[in-house]
Amino acid sequence: MKYNKITQNVILQLEAIVGKEHVYYDDENIKHYAHDETEDLKFNPEVIIKPRTAQEISNIMIICNHESIPVTPRGAGTGLSGGALPVFGGIIVAMERFNSILMIDERNLQATVEPGVINQVFQEAVIEKGLFYPPDPASMGSCFLGGNLAENSGGPKAVKYGVTKDYVLNLEVVLPTGEIIWTGANVLKNSTGYNLTQLLVGSEGTLGIITKIVFRLIPYPMQTLLMLVPFHSAEVACEAVSAVFRAGITPSAMEFMERDAIDWVMKFVEVNIEIKDSIQAHLLIEVDGNDVEVLMKDCEKISEVMYGFGCDEILFADTVAQKENLWKMRRRVAEAVRSHAIYKEEDTVVPRAELPLLLKGVKEIGKRYGFRSVCYGHAGDGNLHVNIIREQLSDEEWNTKLPLGIREIFELCVGLGGTISGEHGIGWVQKGYMDIAFSEKEIALQKGIKNLFDPNSILNPGKMFV
Ligand code: LAC
Ligand code: ZN
Repeated sequence: MKYNKITQNVILQLEAIVGKEHVYYDDENIKHYAHDETEDLKFNPEVIIKPRTAQEISNIMIICNHESIPVTPRGAGTGLSGGALPVFGGIIVAMERFNSILMIDERNLQATVEPGVINQVFQEAVIEKGLFYPPDPASMGSCFLGGNLAENSGGPKAVKYGVTKDYVLNLEVVLPTGEIIWTGANVLKNSTGYNLTQLLVGSEGTLGIITKIVFRLIPYPMQTLLMLVPFHSAEVACEAVSAVFRAGITPSAMEFMERDAIDWVMKFVEVNIEIKDSIQAHLLIEVDGNDVEVLMKDCEKISEVMYGFGCDEILFADTVAQKENLWKMRRRVAEAVRSHAIYKEEDTVVPRAELPLLLKGVKEIGKRYGFRSVCYGHAGDGNLHVNIIREQLSDEEWNTKLPLGIREIFELCVGLGGTISGEHGIGWVQKGYMDIAFSEKEIALQKGIKNLFDPNSILNPGKMFV
């Protein structure tokens, strides 16, 4: 696809749409919007524009379609697969000014929000009404709901409550061709036509720009109990995971952290726990509900399962502060790894009970290719974040050999019934591996959908498909 550069004339047209003060092309802004949180990748946009209404975005799309200018939508820029990188230059549509919670409908347990609202801000607003919006990605303190929809983000609570898609009822979307549509209805059941709402969720900003979201909410569970379970073997920790569910308990979080992940995060944040030298991994397990006695019984049962797998002494978080510290430790692993080392992150996912085989396979592949990995993630979902650390690998090994190793990891995932991304998306960095997850026909169907929405391929081009 050949794109045109942005001319002074186009800039004037954009300024006429949103106001001069919301169009940026100075060095500092270009530098800031050149990257998201994906590895160390940088691509300069030519112009950054911050619209406020769906109509403004529609007008921008019409110009860009006419002029063949690529448009990359961007939330808070916390993505991990390069979804917000303007890989062909062009315009970044930054959604920062779409930051209103428009309505919390307590009668229907629903909310209508704009996509630039921060996940945690929304969570806190609904908690005030006794309501719960569970999806809680690690970056919840800064990521936008729109980005969560684009990637179909998960987080620790997904294991009990599901991921972003499970809370989306209806969307207002600006199409790349400029039309503004609604995808569904504000209802809990809907058998009316194709499910455009769910097609848009997880489409990584390639089909349209979401401008309003209608969520369903659930009642807020008032109590949580949290336990940290040390294991002498990482593989055994993974084996214990599915046994908890088989014992009839669904925890509200079931997280896995390898030893290195905890050691690095403790150097990075002010949290300290005593860990014996022999400990190789931890499970962080939370249960939630409204009746503490029931939760205590759940914890007893979980402990029984854990001791059955030979875990070391379990730590129960007694205070709110201790719970917060353990969660801080878990949530900041990704940042700690990033600050500690050059790395590549893979977001592998397999059926839950196959997790031990996945971990074992990742380590074997690492040995063969000569790389070290630090693994952590949402064990209860079979979703393992594999951080491959560069260390002493040469450019040749890192750029040429490593992709073959990653390919083997993904082939292993698919062979185990899983796939190549659980919650971070494909974006720019994983698109070369889509052939592992899909046949030619399956990819052709998806490209056909993209083409129907975006015939001139101006919206977030270069993502998802090679
Ligand atoms: C996490 C992010 C990286 O689980 O998905 O910490
Ligand atoms: Zn995660």
